[in-house]
Amino acid sequence: MSATDATPRRLTVADIAKRYADGQRLPMLTAYDYPTAQIIDEAGIPLILVGDSLGQVLLGYESTVRVTMTEMLHHTMAVVRGSRRALVVGDMPFLTYASIAEALDNAGRFLREGGAQAVKVEGGARSARIIEAVVKAGIPVMGHIGWTPQAQHGLGGKVKVIGKDRTQARALLADALAVQEAGAFAIVLELVPAQLAEAITERLRIPTIGIGAGPGCSGQVQVITDLLGLGDFVPRHARPYADLRGTIAEAARRYATDVEAGAFPGAAETVRMDDAILDEALGRGVNDRAGAGQSGADRDIPVGGIPLDRDL
Ligand code: KIV
Repeated sequence: MSATDATPRRLTVADIAKRYADGQRLPMLTAYDYPTAQIIDEAGIPLILVGDSLGQVLLGYESTVRVTMTEMLHHTMAVVRGSRRALVVGDMPFLTYASIAEALDNAGRFLREGGAQAVKVEGGARSARIIEAVVKAGIPVMGHIGWTPQAQHGLGGKVKVIGKDRTQARALLADALAVQEAGAFAIVLELVPAQLAEAITERLRIPTIGIGAGPGCSGQVQVITDLLGLGDFVPRHARPYADLRGTIAEAARRYATDVEAGAFPGAAETVRMDDAILDEALGRGVNDRAGAGQSGADRDIPVGGIPLDRDL
């Protein structure tokens, strides 16, 4: 293996475009921390999204609206440190791209401070002007239309599929085209009827990444806690590929049982030192060791102020 192979090159938006042009489907996962990023990067996931979903699935907020730039940058830096090959996309939080000036500033922070290679912006036609300015500044943008969680208060609060009626379907197609024309390199379609998502995908030159949008998209994204079975519920569109909640609970129960029974730590998890050195340090004789003298042997009672370990 050459030095170049040992340090894999990070994927760029051009690599993603090439995979899309070659007809490869694109798997994307969210990640919020160093070890998860490391594992999914080594597993070959080409796109990692540091989603603002971290507000709900990691920080316990009731919605993504409370997530701040400081929180996003903190987690983005960890994901970037953990990954070597995947293209890392930082999710612009609520109200951090309300104006072009704010969008440029915050998108720039994702690249400069967070180390991400791209940002994601929610909204179709309404965000096109912002997307265009950020792309023109040299920052790759992933769009996000359909159910856009940051707009949930405007969309009626309740999570729902977007695009089922004719007006919504047309608006969604217009949104997708607006995001593409603004220069986005890819677009997330969230909670969109499968046939509409497929029709949008066929009409775009950029890849669509679906979540709850059926199999006709160019790629798929899942929230990592859904994929791993870590959340307290499984959304209908998700497929848990593991039961980590069960695995963690079982490990915690077994650990508690072992600690309570004095079975952890055992010899394998314990470091010992030379008893003679400890005797010297404590100023005691062999017979003063814990458990010694139980047979009634004479003891060396040390002089000095160091307490015997059985007295501690
Ligand atoms: O924040 C997030 O995880 C997302 C995905 C659901 C696309 O935006």
